[in-house]
Amino acid sequence: MSFQIVGTGRAHPEFVLNNDMLSQIVDTSDEWIVARTGINTRYVSTHETITELSVKAADNALSKAGIGAKDLDLILCATMKGDYACPSLACLVQKEIGADCPAVDLNAACSGFLYALDQADAYIASGKVETVLIIGAELMTRHLDWTDRSTCVLFGDGAGAVVVRKGHGLKSIKITAKGDDELLVIGNTFCPSPYGKQPKLDPHFRMKGGEVFKFAVTSVLRDVKDVMKMAGVEVKDVKMLIPHQANQRVFQVAKEKLGFSDEQLAMGIDHYGNTSSASIPLLLDELIEEGKLKPGDIIVMSAFGGGLTTGACVIEL
Ligand code: UT7
Repeated sequence: MSFQIVGTGRAHPEFVLNNDMLSQIVDTSDEWIVARTGINTRYVSTHETITELSVKAADNALSKAGIGAKDLDLILCATMKGDYACPSLACLVQKEIGADCPAVDLNAACSGFLYALDQADAYIASGKVETVLIIGAELMTRHLDWTDRSTCVLFGDGAGAVVVRKGHGLKSIKITAKGDDELLVIGNTFCPSPYGKQPKLDPHFRMKGGEVFKFAVTSVLRDVKDVMKMAGVEVKDVKMLIPHQANQRVFQVAKEKLGFSDEQLAMGIDHYGNTSSASIPLLLDELIEEGKLKPGDIIVMSAFGGGLTTGACVIEL
């Protein structure tokens, strides 16, 4: 297949919100959150914008790739909401880093990073471009109802970036969608118009947690098996499985059913919470920086989320 990852980067806000702090604003406890989700702390933006975090992650990835912004042929930002509806987050990143290439956002909720990898694969395979910057960035805490304990304890903010270049690292990739506006929803808000009623949608993140949990486990099991089969790799060949960091229990079940060991399971939910499309690239950069992943290692990434969408891939670093 078409590309190699040549650089990774990440950025998160400064402020760390722990579970005890949350128990002062909603009826929850550190015990419940850790046992049900695996989350201890998460980063929450107090002043950082999503553009600032994305630019920081992008600069970091470019410098590790050893290339300049002018070498980029395309910028793809996976996000549900940039600082503006227009211009896109990708265009603002393009301006700030000094790139001179097309730039566009795409929204596949928590699977956005996998969707962006898939698009980069198609662009590079077609010969249209050679080098793509992909960013997964979300300020999920902007969408929360801080009186709803079933959702406000789950999320954090951050941005992760990768630079991919024409090469042979990507071994297989798949993405799926199954339209649904019941299980996982964030409503848009609209300006009043003299010519008609605008829909009045709840702007907060709302989720039917139990049903999404079942969807998550089923899709990770299915997608990981599929991409490993497509790539012709077995569990013993895989250095790490990097699942979307939504709930530790989801990937513990997946790990056991798929036959991975504890060492093969990448875990960042304890200190990031769920950062949606940022969760996989944030963790990937951290694991590479800590020396837990090296060139030549085979990784499997698997994401699921609103839409409903899913995505998975096998990559040799
Ligand atoms: O990234 C997008 C994809 N998202 C996901 O994959 C999320 C998937 N779902 C989940 O991670 C889990 O369903 C949650 C963590 C959201 C919830 O865990 P759960 O084990 O499914 O809990 P539940 O919703 O069944 O609630 C169990 C109990 C309820 O109380 P009762 O009815 O048994 O008395 C809730 O009211 O836990 C209660 N509860 C809480 N208690 C303390 C719900 N939230 C909290 C809380 N603190 N924060």
